[in-house]
Amino acid sequence: MKALIVRDGAGKPELVEQPKPEPDAGEALVRTLRVGVDGTDHEVIAGSHGGSPEGDDYLVLGHEAVGVVEDANGTGLSEGDIVVPTVRRPPNGSNPYFERDEADMAPDGQYYERGIVGAHGFMAEYFTSPASALVQVPPELVDYGFLVEPISITEKAVEHADASRSAFEWSPESALVLGNGSLGLLTLAMFEQRFERTYCLGRRDRPDPTIDIIESLESTYINSTETAVGDIPDAYEAPDLIYEATGYAKHPFEAIEALAPNGVVAALGVPSDWTFDLDGGRFHRELVLHNKAIVGSVNSNVRQFEAAVETLGSLSESFLDSLITGVYPLEDFEAAFDNDDRTIKNAIQFSQYEERR
Ligand code: NAP
Ligand code: BGC
Ligand code: ZN
Repeated sequence: MKALIVRDGAGKPELVEQPKPEPDAGEALVRTLRVGVDGTDHEVIAGSHGGSPEGDDYLVLGHEAVGVVEDANGTGLSEGDIVVPTVRRPPNGSNPYFERDEADMAPDGQYYERGIVGAHGFMAEYFTSPASALVQVPPELVDYGFLVEPISITEKAVEHADASRSAFEWSPESALVLGNGSLGLLTLAMFEQRFERTYCLGRRDRPDPTIDIIESLESTYINSTETAVGDIPDAYEAPDLIYEATGYAKHPFEAIEALAPNGVVAALGVPSDWTFDLDGGRFHRELVLHNKAIVGSVNSNVRQFEAAVETLGSLSESFLDSLITGVYPLEDFEAAFDNDDRTIKNAIQFSQYEERR
């Protein structure tokens, strides 16, 4: 079968032939339909995040997959089921985080991430997975199923942000998303359903397809080259929730300042090291005197994947179609990794879904 890999240090993906995997007990064999590309994949390809499995000098890419069960192999699944795999797997058997379905909370060394760190990913014509790490998707969502993983990232982050505000009567009305990449825009569409007023920050000038999407969601676009995060309360309003999806390391600090009293910042970005000046006293004082919170959030668990399937079904097709800027056949895989201003969310098609009669 064909697989897309990155060799250590190569800096670009490569198409190779590999043996088709065979499922172990408890695992199903899945025929891959589509796999999405996100900012993390670009970081993995560049070598700034993640790494190959021990003993291998390459990594099969891909962590945002949807596929169809080809061999249920005695698991509770059925051939033909459409499934989305979770990303984390336990090294050396299991551990308590995985046993209580909190793989997303496992510390370094107690997880691999398929397609990212220590375990091969889903950009191959077939993959195997424990059935317990496969979440079912209804057939009508099959084309968009690769978005379940990124949506689940926001399900988790918002769950943790809400939990941090659960000790008092919190009635948030406004939310700001920092970042107009695929994660930021998916999150904005989710926030549109919950908040009365939403804002999204990018650094692009008009005309730009992400600004068109932001405005079609009836959200307000803020250009960070004109309005810095710290100036947003004066120019617009102080948001109750700020979701950082830029990977720009100053943003979580600036967001604490911009936040409304009693608000919360969810930080999602994975930046490289960067040393900069910061008024630590002011940051500390803001947190304390205005009861603010900041939560970091990574990855997501089965329950959050299941919530993401529901959420995916609630998002409009016109929004999803405008977000997905390209679905490329395997032979055109290079185009799927383009990262220009016209690209929002690309995916690679590994095989076609044929509904069973
Ligand atoms: P992405 O496509 O690279 O999106 C990042 C967006 O932020 C880009 O549109 C970029 O604008 C914008 N941006 C960067 N710096 C900015 C600044 N100073 N001012 C305004 N806008 C700025 O990445 P993504 O896939 O959406 O992911 C977003 C971040 O979340 C990445 O750091 C990724 O690693 C991380 N992530 C984390 C998790 C998790 O579990 N915690 C999961 C998925 C992703 P331009 O396009 O104009 O450059
Ligand atoms: C993935 C997460 C993963 C994170 C850190 C994200 O792009 O969606 O599943 O935990 O990167 O590696
Ligand atoms: Zn991701």
